[in-house]
Order: sequence, then structure tokens, then C-alpha cells
Amino acid sequence: MSAQFSRTSNPDPTPEARRTEILAAPGFGRYFTDHMATVRWNAQRGWHDAAVVPYGPLVLDPASMVLHYGQEIFEGLKAYRQPDGSIASFRPEANAARFRATAARMAMAPLPDELFVASLAELLDADREWVPPAGGEEAMYLRPFMLATEVGLGVRPSSEYLYCLIASPVGPYFPGGVKPIDVWLSTEYTRAALGGTGTAKCGGNYAASLLPQAQGAEHGCSQVVYLDAEERHWVDEMGSNNLFFVYGSGDQIEVVTPALTGSILPGITRDSLLVLAKELGCEVTERRMSWDEWLSGAADGSISEVFGCGTAAVVTPIGRVRYHGGEVVMGDGQPGPVGLRLRSMLTDIQRGAAPDTHSWMRTLVPA
Ligand SMILES: Cc1ncc(COP(=O)(O)O)c(C=O)c1O
Repeated sequence: MSAQFSRTSNPDPTPEARRTEILAAPGFGRYFTDHMATVRWNAQRGWHDAAVVPYGPLVLDPASMVLHYGQEIFEGLKAYRQPDGSIASFRPEANAARFRATAARMAMAPLPDELFVASLAELLDADREWVPPAGGEEAMYLRPFMLATEVGLGVRPSSEYLYCLIASPVGPYFPGGVKPIDVWLSTEYTRAALGGTGTAKCGGNYAASLLPQAQGAEHGCSQVVYLDAEERHWVDEMGSNNLFFVYGSGDQIEVVTPALTGSILPGITRDSLLVLAKELGCEVTERRMSWDEWLSGAADGSISEVFGCGTAAVVTPIGRVRYHGGEVVMGDGQPGPVGLRLRSMLTDIQRGAAPDTHSWMRTLVPA
């Protein structure tokens, strides 16, 4: 597949000194590499014109269908420099499959998984100097996305799409060590209804989350917890994280995560933590979890820790939940041992510091 990508080098790449400066403190999603990968689709030719080109603005006709009907989808995954200098990403086939499933839900052209993975390898190869060094939590964040480019008005699936991949070096999510966050329980807004787009990673889901996110921020919270849309009773997930609840302690630990009942994004971190939690000897349960159970479990101490999980932060401990009329602290308000242990198990695999017994890592650029 990789032979299909043409390459046009950026004639004006970032000077090495500036790149070094950026890599010393990249933050998250603030800087982008010198190139991007693009592939086009139309009904006549299928996927074509795969290319790595200089990073730069996209030119869109104002009547491009994405601007009117919102056919836009994306993915998010990371690539890590390995101790031997190679560059590997974590379960990219799972992101490729989710991208395809999202495309199907949005009536968009499915990008073949091999082409998705080949685009990652091609861009990382072109911008290999941008991938942070091994040994820390720095990584290269990869953002594949696709948009409807047919020019014309009328609500129907576009007959043309642009797939694009950009890359951004990122620093450790918690530079001074893992910190708990406060989260806001939204009883006013929901994220997804059954039959809607909650299981898909489409831009519109995130647009709709911005108002509740702002409301959460007004209450000092950095993430929003959503309940199910039908009964406002069952805990779904957060705006960009799946949720885990830990019951018990010592060698009697049960880890519970809301089941994928049709309104939750099937997180790849979630799926991986379920496997690792079993390996840790925890009982692992996927089931519905009500807000009442969360509230009473936190109040009586039967829930010892709660954490969110996702590609960006891996595991984010929740210190406190705030809601209209009250708040409740999780455990002692500090990061719990189970979440921290799972986090280090996963990051060790990703950084090549622990054996990859599940074949989760894919070498995309050899040493
Ligand atoms: C709504 C939502 N839930 C969960 C996740 C976590 O998914 P993953 O672990 O694949 O990053 C994300 C992040 O992509 C998300 O946006």
C-alpha cells in the first residue's frame, strides 16, 4: 500500500533549532509537523491520489457539503519512539476499524484499514525527526480525519471525500505527575441517544459537547459526565473519556465499566484496560451503572476509585463529582492505586518498556 503515496517534500520545513525548541515543550495539539497525508475518494475512481504533501491550508469551495451538513469524522491515536529508535503506534488497526464504522454511520466512503495504517507510516516516515525521544511520556499524536468535499447543496451523502492525516508532537499529559480532576454531572444535556451518533467519532458530537463543557467549567470542572438520554439514570461516559469504577481493595477488586449499549464511544483504551485489569487479577464487569449507584457507592466508600480513560491522558483519576445541588469526593480525592497501576502497565507497553504480550504495538517506521 505504501507505494501508492507520492511524496512532495516541504520546501520550507521548520528549522531544526525551532523544532528542538518545540519538542522541549510541545504541549498538546499546538504544533504540527512539516507534512500531512491526503487521499481523495469519488464515486468514479474510489480512493486515489494518495500523497504526502507539505502541511498547509485546505482550499474548500464554500458550497462543500461538509460546511453545510457536517459530514466530518476523525480519529486520534499516538505513535511512540521505541528504545531502539523505531516508531510504533498502539493498536492502529482498532482506530482504522472505528474510523470505518464511523464512516458507515455517517454515510461516508469507508477508508480501507490498510490505507489508514499506510498513511500513518508514510507521514511518520516523512516527519520522523518530529517524533519525541524514547523514555518519557512524550509521543506523536496522530489525527486522521475525513470530510465531504462535493460542491453543492441538498441533504444527501457527498459523492466526494478528502481523507487527511496531520501529526502533532505532544508532551506528557500530567507533567508534574498524575493529578485527579473534578467532573461535572450534566443533568440538562445529553451526549447521545440510542440510534444517534454516540458510538461514532464525528465532529458534530464534540460541537454539541461544548456548551455542557462550558457549564462544567463554570463549576470548576474540566470534564462532563453524561447520563443516558432516555431515562437520565444510567452513566454513559465523559466528553472524551470512558469511565471505570473500582470496588473493593487488596486482592478483592472489581472493576466496572458501563457496557457498550449503543450510545457510548467504544474506546480503545477502555478495551485495553479491560484486558490488563483481568491480568492484574481484578474481576472485570461491563454492565449498566446508574448515577444513584455511583453516588451511594462513593458516599459509603464501596467505590474506592473512579477514573476516565482515553488516548490523550490514558487514565485520568476523578477526585470529585459536582452536580446541581451537591458534590461527592471519590475515595480520599487522590489518584487510586488501581488506575495508576493500569496506567503504568499500558504506558510501559506503549513505550517499549514492558513486553507487548498482546501484539498491540505496530512498528510503522523501522529503526
Ligand atoms: C467520547 C469519547 N469517549 C471515549 C474516548 C476514548 O477513546 P480512546 O480510548 O479510543 O481514545 C474518546 C477519545 O477518543 C472520546 O472522544
